[in-house]
Order: sequence, then structure tokens, then C-alpha cells
Amino acid sequence: MNSLPVNNPDWLVNKITKMGGTISFYDYMDFSLNDPINGYYGSGKTELGSQGDFVTSPSLSDDFAFFVGKQIEEWLIQLKSSFFSNQKISVIEFGAGDGSFMSGLIKYLLGISNECLEGVTFVIIEPNKGMVEKQKNKLEELLNLGIDILWKSLEEFEENNLIGIVIANEVLDALPVERITFSKGKLFRQAVSIDKRSYKLFFDKMPITGALGKSIELAKSELGITIPPEDALEGWTTEWHVDNSEWLKKLYGKINNGILLIIDYAKAAKKYYTAKNSNGTIVSYKNQKMMNNVLDFPGNCDLTSHVCIETLINDAETIGFNSIGITKQGEALLALGLAERLYGIQKEFKEDLSNALLRREALLRLVDPRCLGDFKWFVFNKFKEKKLNINSTCLR
Ligand SMILES: C[S@@+](CC[C@H](N)C(=O)[O-])C[C@H]1O[C@@H](n2cnc3c(N)ncnc32)[C@H](O)[C@@H]1O
Repeated sequence: MNSLPVNNPDWLVNKITKMGGTISFYDYMDFSLNDPINGYYGSGKTELGSQGDFVTSPSLSDDFAFFVGKQIEEWLIQLKSSFFSNQKISVIEFGAGDGSFMSGLIKYLLGISNECLEGVTFVIIEPNKGMVEKQKNKLEELLNLGIDILWKSLEEFEENNLIGIVIANEVLDALPVERITFSKGKLFRQAVSIDKRSYKLFFDKMPITGALGKSIELAKSELGITIPPEDALEGWTTEWHVDNSEWLKKLYGKINNGILLIIDYAKAAKKYYTAKNSNGTIVSYKNQKMMNNVLDFPGNCDLTSHVCIETLINDAETIGFNSIGITKQGEALLALGLAERLYGIQKEFKEDLSNALLRREALLRLVDPRCLGDFKWFVFNKFKEKKLNINSTCLR
């Protein structure tokens, strides 16, 4: 086993061999990211931020938590005034990365008033133990102040009992996906196999499962998405987000009254499932470089794919969520006071030009349409007890 180490780490080769030499792309992505010892997130070797493998909005700029904090504050005020004052309100973050967002959010709310935090519990839902350790380190100071921050699994919440706000920033793009590939006039499930001589990984095919076939049919009848598109060429491949619906369903079951904010890379179906987009959207990130060969560096880089706007909204609405709106991150941040914030930086760092410029640059990257500014913000809600018309400045 001495060929290039780029794509054949022993732990993965052994795992695939034990499973018969071929696994689905879904399993490959799941193992690469979430294996508790060797996975990129599972092991906690993930490095976010401008010195790490890739940036996310909260790891790039503290201003992200400031803006989302403003939106969460607005929602908290409305929830608190609409329900009994003795009812606990939860602010839940899925997939909290290195804890930057949760830390920034709590600091923002503390800066408004201690009252703002009264009756509020902060919860992180993070399946990867390696990431939980990073989050606990980052939040140590706030935990020491006695702020109510818990780490829980979704299963630990009672059914239909949750009142609160749920946020998932760049989490759905990290959920494993199936990949569908078109060959010799037929659809297949993309697979990953080991070459028996070199032990290198290569793309392979397996038959489409009944469940996958059914969900492709449903996308056609409900949303008019044709897989493959009519003029697709041999080898056309795309992602299929099989976990979103189950994730939304479990969450919906727990919420009694709440708001869900999903922020992610997203593409409209009419751009996603075209013949021209012949290899979907999946890429990997390492050392700030985007790589198209997603079989390189398994366990040592991020793997990410765009969600499909229409299928995500359809999945959420089918389950029962109300879709309140969708906007681009750039527009959301403008509505939440980007211009004032830029002016504020200028004033705050009057004597420290280089810091002012760094803050300004990071802030502008959050809204740059070629970068994080094109991220989509999806707002959903579920109000079981009473119908509420919630104001959301981010959607204005
Ligand atoms: C791309 S990182 C985003 C981190 C953070 N939200 C941010 O924006 O900086 C993806 C995060 O989602 C977590 N994650 C992966 N699968 C998850 C799941 N099924 N539920 C919740 N979090 C998950 C990862 O461990 C990681 O913390």
C-alpha cells in the first residue's frame, strides 16, 4: 500500500475493503467528514477561518454574529411577548463549527442587556465530538459567566415542545449527499471503489435504490425537475440531497412554536439540473484552495455541495413548515444595517487604520456576491399554539 497517499489513507481503504471494495458516494462523504477518529469534522481536525482550510461567515468576521444577532434579538422580542413569560425560549445552533457564531451571538445579546438573555437557553446540536471540544474551548469564558449553554442531541428534546429559534449556517452543505450519474442511457448511484493493485480510490457505479428512484420521480412530478436533463451527455452527474427532508422532519416534530433560519450555498433547480452543469456542485476545500477532485485527501479536507433552493423549500413545506421568505446574504446584511456598521468601524478604529481596513475587508467579503454574499437565507416557521405574523428585518 505505497501509492500516492493523497486518496488512499489506510483507515479508509480498510473500511471500504471490509464493505466489499465498493461503497456509495454518500458513505464516502459521510466517512470522510464524520468518522469519529479520522473524519474531517469527526476528529476535530477542521480548521476554519482565514488561517485554516476555508472560511465560513462567522469564522471570517465577528460582524456576522452581530448582524444575525440583530435578527435573533428581533425574533426573541416577538416570541417573548407572544408566549407566557415562564416559558423557556431556546436558541439552537446546529453544527456550530469552532463556536465562533454562538460566542459572537451571546456577546451581542449581552451587550444589549442582561434582560435579553432572561429565560433564554442556548443549545448547540453537534454530532461530531471533535468539534464539540473546539466549541467548549471557545465558549469557556461565557460558560464561566454562568450563561446557559447546553450541548444536546435533537432526540433529547420532547416532541412538540420547543419554543425558540433554530439556526443552521453551512450545515446542510456538509450533510452527505448521494450522487446520481448518467451512463449508457441509464441512471446510476455514484460509488467509490478501491483499485485492487494500487489501492487508489476511483469513481464507480451502483444501481439506483428504490428510495432514490422514488425521490427522483417525486421531484419530477412535484417540481418539474428532470433527471437527467434531456440533453445530458454520457457521465453527467449531480448531487441528490437525501438527508435534508429527514433532518427537517425530525426538527419539525420537536418544535411547538419556532423560527428556523437556514443559511447556505444554494442554487436554483433550473441552474442545478442542466446538461451544462455536468458535474454538480460538489467540491473540497483545503488550505483555502477549492479542489474539484473530491477523492483527494479524504478526512483531511472539507467536502461541500450546494443545496437546491426549490427542493429544500418543497421538503420543508411538505413536512409542514411555513416558508416565510428567502433572500441573499448580501441583501439580508444590508437590511440589518450594513451601511451603519461600516460607518461605525470607521469611527471605532479612527486611530488604528490597519485594523479598520481589515474589519472593513472582512465585512465586505460577507456581502460580496462572488463570495459569501450570494449565500441564501431561508426563513421558515411553525406556530402550533397561535398564528403569529413575525417581522423579519432580514427579509425586507
Ligand atoms: C461547514 S461547518 C459550519 C460550521 C459553522 N456553522 C460555521 O458557519 O462556522 C459544518 C458543521 O456542521 C456540523 N455537522 C455535520 N453534520 C451535522 C449534523 N447532522 N447535524 C448537525 N451538525 C452537523 C459539522 O461538524 C460542523 O460543525
